Amino acid sequence: MTTGSNGRRPAGSATHAIHAGNPAGRPGQPVVGPVVRSSTFFWAGPDDGIDLMYSRYGNNPNQLSVAARIAALEGTESALALASGMAAIATTLLAATRMGDHIVASRQLYGPTRQLVSQELARRGVDCTLVDPCDAEVWGAAVTPRTRVVLIELPTNPTLRVFEIAPAREAARSVGALLAADMTFASPINLRAAEHGVDVVIHSATKYLGGHSDLIAGAVAADRETIARITKTMKLYGGSIDPGTAWLLERGIRTLPLRMERHNRTALHLARWFAGVEGVREVIHPGLPGHPDHELATRLLDGYGGMVSIVLEGGGPAADRFCRALRLAVPAPSLGGVETLVSQPRHTSHAELKREEREAIGIPDGFVRISVGLEDPEDLRADFGAAIRAATGSPEKVAARL
Ligand SMILES: Cc1ncc(COP(=O)(O)O)c(C=O)c1O
Repeated sequence: MTTGSNGRRPAGSATHAIHAGNPAGRPGQPVVGPVVRSSTFFWAGPDDGIDLMYSRYGNNPNQLSVAARIAALEGTESALALASGMAAIATTLLAATRMGDHIVASRQLYGPTRQLVSQELARRGVDCTLVDPCDAEVWGAAVTPRTRVVLIELPTNPTLRVFEIAPAREAARSVGALLAADMTFASPINLRAAEHGVDVVIHSATKYLGGHSDLIAGAVAADRETIARITKTMKLYGGSIDPGTAWLLERGIRTLPLRMERHNRTALHLARWFAGVEGVREVIHPGLPGHPDHELATRLLDGYGGMVSIVLEGGGPAADRFCRALRLAVPAPSLGGVETLVSQPRHTSHAELKREEREAIGIPDGFVRISVGLEDPEDLRADFGAAIRAATGSPEKVAARL
């Protein structure tokens, strides 16, 4: 474990992000390690006494180094980097279940995760019960002796709901199931889920961990035994991270705490501003006092996050016009990058759902998800103001607020 300057106190997140997993320095050694591109390693047999053989196995030096950094940030014994966020989720679920098992999952999940648990795993004989994560009573009622995993996502995508972890945790414990949490939106800077009893912390590292929209990766953080099980499954299904991507992810992580501080600040600033803009019917951000989970978010999180969702007057057509009118923010279906990214869940993550199903989980047409980047807030305000004017046709009132 990385320690603080007195050598005893565990280091803080900013220090972990920069130093965790680094080898002890020797004169002449590079401060930044190289990318070890070799797919295979000299290995004549078990008597060589070394595990490092082949980069799909997940213990190439770059894979190990980035995993150590993620474990330090999450405060877990171990971690594993994988080829994508979906590889992290799927490999975890495949490792934990077999035919006849059951999963209880939040109804508010990233679209493909929801498809994975409710359709894909069902094809393999693992059935799933979806529940409303904001109703504390449902978890205990949904688990059965066959339940192997309880799966949550926090804050939820794209509705930014924040809920108590304890009911899901207690339900999982009561039947010996794992509690897994996709913490992509929070990042380990805003919440370290293992501190709240989450057994497997999952990330799409494509997002905040990488932070620059230039890689696809995933991560799981858990105790050693659980990571060993997931690694074994990863070797079979082949979702290991490429060493070059692991290196790039590690570089991104070095600035994660700094970036999150700025994402948190600018998103809150913009959320407050959007709340006064004509043409915006609703603003969703846990930092706003009107958000249904504001108090809990204030208690639970170290930052409200970099995501803001808005619902525009004029529904889907207005949201389409808005996205086309943007000149600075980038209409693209991802989040967590240095650049502000804008998307409509009805076209992207939740395209598989019918309109009524989307509305039932709080995503009406006109819903726009904004991943607030690191640009100057006043430039973002000007861009969003002009795009809202173009989209909702209320020029005077919007212009007056710019
Ligand atoms: C919350 C969440 N989890 C998982 C994923 C999947 O990650 P990846 O695209 O890295 O596979 C995404 C992608 O948008 C996401 O938003």
